[in-house]
Formats: sequence, structure tokens, C-alpha cells
Amino acid sequence: MELSGKRIVLGVTGGIAAYKAAELVRLLIKQDASVHVVMTDAASHFVTPVTFQALSGNPVFTDQWDPRIANNMAHIDLSREADALLVAPASADFLAKTAAGIADNLLTTLVLARDCPLFVAPAMNRQMWENPATQRNVATLRNDGIGVLGPAAGDQACGEVGQGRMLEPDEIVAELIAHFQPKVLAGRKVLLTAGPTFEAIDPVRGITNLSSGKMGFAIACAAQEAGAEVTLVSGPVTQQTPRGVTRVDVTSGLEMHAAVMERISGQDVFVGVAAVADYRPEAIADRKIKKEDGATPDIRLVRNPDILAEVAALPAPPLCVGFAAESHDLAAYAERKRMAKKIPLIVGNLIQHGFGGDDNTVVLFDDAGQWPLTPGPKIQLARQLIARIATLLENR
Ligand code: PMT
Repeated sequence: MELSGKRIVLGVTGGIAAYKAAELVRLLIKQDASVHVVMTDAASHFVTPVTFQALSGNPVFTDQWDPRIANNMAHIDLSREADALLVAPASADFLAKTAAGIADNLLTTLVLARDCPLFVAPAMNRQMWENPATQRNVATLRNDGIGVLGPAAGDQACGEVGQGRMLEPDEIVAELIAHFQPKVLAGRKVLLTAGPTFEAIDPVRGITNLSSGKMGFAIACAAQEAGAEVTLVSGPVTQQTPRGVTRVDVTSGLEMHAAVMERISGQDVFVGVAAVADYRPEAIADRKIKKEDGATPDIRLVRNPDILAEVAALPAPPLCVGFAAESHDLAAYAERKRMAKKIPLIVGNLIQHGFGGDDNTVVLFDDAGQWPLTPGPKIQLARQLIARIATLLENR
């Protein structure tokens, strides 16, 4: 329910991706937004207004001269109450008109008369997208402060392959949700670690753990949504990098340590979410260890550097946030880690909740006490954590 109370005007222009706008309406409603659809004439050749009316539960507008609007000013009435105007799919023609300020139908008139943020999700053939005229228009839209979402690359309805596919409806909804997050970290720099580390034993084997990176990537995403400049140092995971986040891939704890120490200067916040292996093999065999080589191998382990403790011990450290994954006695162990690492805030989670899943249950521990967060999806916990970090930064 991330869009509760938000009124979204959805413009649909003519293009085969118009059928995806139906799913978009469904997802927006699922997030509790109220959705009001405006279609161009071309769009109604692909999907009928009835579909959008049924899905949104609201009348659909296609005509500037619609007699249902008492004052005949649909373009003003619709935009004045909107929290955002989203056009998906946005055709090359629509982008060109919007860049030029042309108002020749209900949607383009509404766009010109709006007093709310405008987002467009382009969808067109790859040659149309690459055409210098379209690129000029998109640059103009960006300069005018309009949010251009996508397009993505891939198979196109015309059979060609390239840039120009509309973003998927869930990606568009995620962009809208991000837009509405409070910008509590505007102007701040945040560095995070995420995922596991892999400590090689020989060329094909190693020591690692079950961290998926989901929690760290969610926090990177939430920090970016909150306006921060975010760098994410990640161990080997298969997560998608959140839009706008700079990602640095590493494998071992030593590489993670080096990547963090190289980038730590000038950071306002450091969040250690990674499950860094505490130990690594003292030596890595340069050839695969064979069973027939003899007895059970004796692998000597040495300590990895403690990245978080080292960052916290810098002369002017950023605000340091740690994580503690425990199987029992969460409060006692988390507090003990917070004290040992000399950090102001630690996030405690039970391993049975934290590793790999989409949801988590966490408790924040800081000087003011314990703060259990509402259990749920990792992105929602991440947003709550970012709010607490912003408060601590303010009071620093
Ligand atoms: O990735 P997911 O599947 O979403 O799972 C998320 C998670 C369970 C891995 C995450 O929520 C979590 O709890 N991460 C920390 C795991 C842990 O208990 O780490 P630790 O006790 O070894 O370390 C405590 C803190 O010191 C952590 O912030 C860790 O990043 C940091 N640390 C630890 C060792 C080390 N050498 N360097 C470090 O920076």
C-alpha cells in the first residue's frame, strides 16, 4: 500500500504496449492509488476505454470536449487534483509534442496545463527511439524536469531487437513509489556492503554463506530513493542493481575491505550489511585439490579484516550502521557487537528470518534503546531504517 492517498492520472498513447497499461492500472490500484485514465484516440485502437474503466473504477477520458465535465475544462480539473501524471506508453509522437509544448488533444493539453510532476515511459520501435529527433526531444523533456522512465532493450513487437521497449509495469510502479519517498538523505553520500563473500580454497571451491544480497540491495535502493548518492560494494549475488546506484562487485573479504577503504573518504553513512566471512584459507591452492593427493586436506584459516570496525575507528568516521544475524539471544548479542565495533546503530535479525528471504523481522539497537520495525518486505524495512539513519545524522 505504498501509494495510499495518491491520485495518479495515467495517460495512455497509441502503441502496442498500451495493453501493458491495463496491468499497470491493476498494480497502481493494488498499491491503493486512485487512478484516472486519459487516452489518446490512437490508444483506443489498441485497448478500449471500457477496459481501463473496469480496472480503475473511474470514468475514462478520451475527448477534450467530453460533455461529462460540467465546466468543459477536463484538462484543468484532471491535473489539479493529481499527485502525478504518468504517461505509459508514451509514443514518439507524444514525446515530440510534449517537448514542443503542443496541446492538440486532451492528453497533450492536460500535460501542458499540469501543476504536478510528469513521468513518461517511452515505447517505440528501436529506430524511432534512436532517431536524433526523438533523442533531442527526450533531452528536452529531461531538461524540463520530466521523469523519463526507460525504455528497456529487448524483443520488440515488430520483430526487431533493441532499445525502445516500455519498462515493465512493476518497474514503473517502483519508480513512482520511489518518487514519493521523503528525500531525507538529499545531498548525503552512503556506502554499503551487501551479500556474502567467497573465500577460495582452490580454483573451484571456497567458503561462503547463504546471504542473497536482498537486504543490502533493498537498503541501497531506499537510500537512493531518499536522495542519497549511493555506492554498493557487493559480494557474489544475482540481484539487480537498483537504478541510480553505483555498484562495485567483489568476491572475497579482502577485496571487499579494499573496495570499501578506497571509497570511504567523504561518505556520510556506512552500512555493513554483508555477511563477510570471518575467516579465509591462509593459502589458496593454485590447482584443484584431488582426493587421491593423500589424506584429508588440512585447511588453515586466518581472520579477515573487520571492515565495519575499521571504518568506525577512522579519525572522522561516517555514521556507521552494522547488522547482526543471530540464532538466539538477539538483543544481547547485537548490543555486544554494537559496543565491540563502537558503532551508534546496529540492526539485529534472527538468521531464520534474515538469510535469503524476501521478508525480514528486525530490531534496531542504538543509544536511545531498542526499536522493533514492522516486519515485512525488505524494501519496507529498508525505508524505515533509512528514516532512523536520517534522524541520527541530523542529531549528530
Ligand atoms: O543478504 P540477505 O539474504 O538478504 O540476508 C541479509 C543478512 C542476514 C545477511 C543481513 O541482514 C545480516 O544480518 N548481515 C550481517 C550478518 C552478520 O551477522 O554478520 P557478522 O556478525 O559477521 O558481522 C557484524 C557486522 O560487522 C555486520 O554489519 C558485517 O557486515 C560487519 N563485518 C563483519 C565481519 C567482517 N570481517 N567485516 C565486517 O564489516
